[in-house]
Amino acid sequence: MSEPATQASLHWPDEGYRRVPYRVYTDAGVYAQEQARLFRGPMWHYLALTAELPQAGDFKTTFVGDTPIIVTHGLDGQFNAFVNRCAHRGSLVCLEANGNKPDGFTCVYHAWSYDLAGNMTSAAFRRGVRGQGGLPADFDLREHGLQRLRIGQCGGILFGTLSDEAESLEDYLGPVATRGILRAMNRPIKILGYDSQIIPANWKTYHENTRDTFHANILHTFFGTFGASRQSQESATIIDPQGRHLYVYTKRGTEVQSADYDNAAASLRSVNSDFTLNDHSVIDWTDEYGDGCSVFITTMFPNFVIHQVQHSLGVRQLIPKGPDRCELIYTYFGYADDSEAMQATRLAHINATGSAGLVSMEDGAVCEFVRQGIAGSGEAASFIEMGGKDLASGGDTKLSEKPLRHFWNVYRGYMDL
Ligand code: FES
Ligand SMILES: [Fe+2]
Repeated sequence: MSEPATQASLHWPDEGYRRVPYRVYTDAGVYAQEQARLFRGPMWHYLALTAELPQAGDFKTTFVGDTPIIVTHGLDGQFNAFVNRCAHRGSLVCLEANGNKPDGFTCVYHAWSYDLAGNMTSAAFRRGVRGQGGLPADFDLREHGLQRLRIGQCGGILFGTLSDEAESLEDYLGPVATRGILRAMNRPIKILGYDSQIIPANWKTYHENTRDTFHANILHTFFGTFGASRQSQESATIIDPQGRHLYVYTKRGTEVQSADYDNAAASLRSVNSDFTLNDHSVIDWTDEYGDGCSVFITTMFPNFVIHQVQHSLGVRQLIPKGPDRCELIYTYFGYADDSEAMQATRLAHINATGSAGLVSMEDGAVCEFVRQGIAGSGEAASFIEMGGKDLASGGDTKLSEKPLRHFWNVYRGYMDL
């Protein structure tokens, strides 16, 4: 079902996707239009890992954009997702983050009840009392279920869409996102834990950061200093044919020296060979996938990431919370067949990723620096020409903003901006 068109007013510079007017990060009209055209629009959004809902009756609550969602594992074994909004007068139906409710959900406000598929099952005082009150005789429970999402799975990851017009999940993911997801989700997983943070910046600032391969070896001093990720190592960025999704990888231990790298690196604070670690557990790494990739990050339009950073594995869900705030939720996992030693290594490597991670903390910080920096910027715009000026240029090097040019090209298309 498509929504009536809303149109934010915004002047986009003539250069197109290689300039981004800073108002897209601050404007309330743009934010409202994103909710309609992206988050309730024809694309697929991360909901949950099936490993979070192993038993019939299990549920978790989440969001697609601003819209509150309940995800369930039904008694029939099927997964379901529906909007967490009572069909009576709009209260949240489920107030808990997760749990097991084989009997379904009852709204605390006036006790309308729903089963695990979102079907309405009862209404308190439906017939009134002593001939007074109650719902009309033609009230039909079947017409008052919770709004369902279409859902689909890839490698044990549940995605959903509120749009009837979205293409199939398989087509939406395409070969690049599918490969990135299935590389990590290649066998049964075990959830290791969660962390979350509120980033005081527009959600797109963080999403751009996950596509911004250029910053990785400059901003993040920890990995550069200790040789875990450097620009001198073999790496590549692979973007899907429609420019929506990408993966980027780096192969540790593949240093190729060159005069231009040495010159540039001499001025980088991220390359300082005078420091060493007494405890190497946070960077000890073995090639568990057999492809040499020590970092492999898949980013999906508009707001989902699955990462392997050394032996830290996780999914990242980015939830917008108004124009200048977003919530980033990390769900960490390992494999069900991990040895105790490997599980300990994965937990040690979470010290690099996550909201307080030695590496990832800097990503949240720069998002806030951008929010502060663009205050009062009027009609000013960013400059995105690293690696070239068009969608095709930039090759597959990390020293390129090609993934950002693609993001803004796709974004403008969906948003009609
Ligand atoms: S709002 Fe849920 S029963 Fe009234
Ligand atoms: Fe980063």
